[in-house]
Amino acid sequence: MPQDTLTITDNRTGQSYNLPITDGTIRAMDLRKIKTKPDDFGLMTYDPAFTNTASCRSAITYIDGDRGILRYRGYPIEVLAEHCTYLEVAYLILFGELPTASQLKTWVHEITHHTMLNESTKKFMEGFRHDAHPMAMLVSTVAALASMYPEARQVHDHENRLLQIKRLIGKMPSIAAMSYRHSVGFPYVYPDNDLTYPENFMNMLWKMVEPKYVANPAIARAIDILFILHADHEQNCSTNAMRCVGSSEADPYLSTAAAAAALSGPLHGGANEEVLRMLDEIGSKENVHAYIRKIKEGKGKLMGFGHRVYKNYDPRAKIIKWTADRVFEVTGHNAKLEIALELERIALEDDYFVQRKLYPNVDFYSGIIYQAMGFKPEMFTVLFAIPRTIGWLAQWQEMLSDPEQKIARPRQIWVGHDTREFVPIEKREKQQPATV
Ligand code: CMC
Repeated sequence: MPQDTLTITDNRTGQSYNLPITDGTIRAMDLRKIKTKPDDFGLMTYDPAFTNTASCRSAITYIDGDRGILRYRGYPIEVLAEHCTYLEVAYLILFGELPTASQLKTWVHEITHHTMLNESTKKFMEGFRHDAHPMAMLVSTVAALASMYPEARQVHDHENRLLQIKRLIGKMPSIAAMSYRHSVGFPYVYPDNDLTYPENFMNMLWKMVEPKYVANPAIARAIDILFILHADHEQNCSTNAMRCVGSSEADPYLSTAAAAAALSGPLHGGANEEVLRMLDEIGSKENVHAYIRKIKEGKGKLMGFGHRVYKNYDPRAKIIKWTADRVFEVTGHNAKLEIALELERIALEDDYFVQRKLYPNVDFYSGIIYQAMGFKPEMFTVLFAIPRTIGWLAQWQEMLSDPEQKIARPRQIWVGHDTREFVPIEKREKQQPATV
C-alpha cells in the first residue's frame, strides 16, 4: 500500500477506499465515489466558512499562522517592509520576482501614467451625496470603470489583462483621494507625475492652494510601509470574493469591486474603523479593565484582536507598531495609543484571550496611525483597499491561468421541505413565517 494514501472504511457498507494524499490534502472529489448504492450522489465534505478547505494552489503569499510568518513570493514581510517601496512589492507579487532597477523604472513609469481619472468618472463621483461613505464610493466607482474600459472583458488576453491591472493600481489612489475630497467638499486634485506613489496620493488628498505639494517624507514612507503590509494575505474573505467572482470571467473592475465590497465588512478590512470607535467608547486608560470584562461576558468583541490564521502573533502588527512610533514623532503624541497599549497589555495577560490565542492583528494599530495622519475613520478601509488591489489582481490572474480552476460553485446540504402540494391563495391559512 503506498504510504501517501488515506484508507477510509464506510461503516454503512463495510467498503474501504484508498485516497491519495497530495500536499497534505485529499481531493474532495475523490470522496464522491463513496456511495451506499449506485444512484447515491456520493460523499461530500461540509465546511461552512471554508475553515479547512484549500480552494486553490497558490505561489503568491505564504502564511504560517502558528509561527507568525508572512512571506510574499518567499520574501519575509519584515525584509520587504524595510527595504522596498510598495510599487516594488506590487511588481514582486504580480510577476513573482523582484524587479531590476530598469524593470522597476518602467513599472513605476507605467503605473504613474495610469493615475488620471477620466472626467466622466470624476463627474460620476461628484454625484454621490456629500456624506456618502468613502468605501461605498470606492466600490461603486471601481465597478463603474468597467463601463469605461469594455475591452477589459477579454480576460484571457494576457496583454489586455496586464493593461487593466496597471490601470487599477494607478487609479485606486486617485479614486480613494477623490472620495475623501468629496466627503469634505474640496475640489478634486489631479495627479502629479513628479511624485512617488504615496507622495502623489498625499498630494491628491491634501493639496490646497500651494502650487506644488511637498510631502512629509516620514509620513510618505509610513504610508508606503502600510501599503506593503496590506498588499496581499492569501485566501482571505475579499480575495476569495475576487477569485469567486472572477471565476465567472467577470471583468477585473467588477471583480475588484466585489472584493472591495467584501473588504468593507467590520470582521475584515472594516475592523480598523471599528477599533477607533472602540477606543473612543473606552475613553481612557482607566476604563480598559471594565471594557475587557464586558467582552469576556460575551458583550461584543475586542476589535483588532484575533485572526482566522494567526494563532501566535500577526507579524504585520509588529511592523505597524514600529511605524506608529515614526509617525508620532511627526504628528505628536496620540492619546488613543495609550488606551490601545493598555488594552493590549491587559488582554495579553488575560486567560480568556491567551486560551483563545487572540493577539492584536494588523487592524489594531493601523487605524491609530491613520487617525494621527489626519484621516477620518471612514477612510481606513479605503486605505486598506488601495494596496490590497495588487493582491486581488495577482490572485485573479493566478486563478485564470490555473487549468484546474473553473467557475466557483459550492454544494449545499438540503435542509428544506420535500415537495409540497400547492395551496391556492384563498385557501391558505396564516403560517408562522420561516425565519430568515
Ligand atoms: N474578541 C473577543 N473574543 C474573540 C475575538 C475578539 N476579537 N475573536 C474571537 N473571539 C473568540 C470567539 O468568541 C470564540 O470564542 P468561543 O470559543 O468561546 O466561542 C473564539 O475566540 C474563537 O473565535 P472564532 O470566531 O471562532 O475565530 P474566527 O477565526 O472565526 O474569527 C475573526 C476570526 C478575525 C473574524 C475574529 O477574531 C474577530 O471577529 N476579530 C475581531 C474583528 C477583527 O479584528 N477583524 C480583523 C481581522 S485581520 C484583518 C482582516 O482580515 O481584514
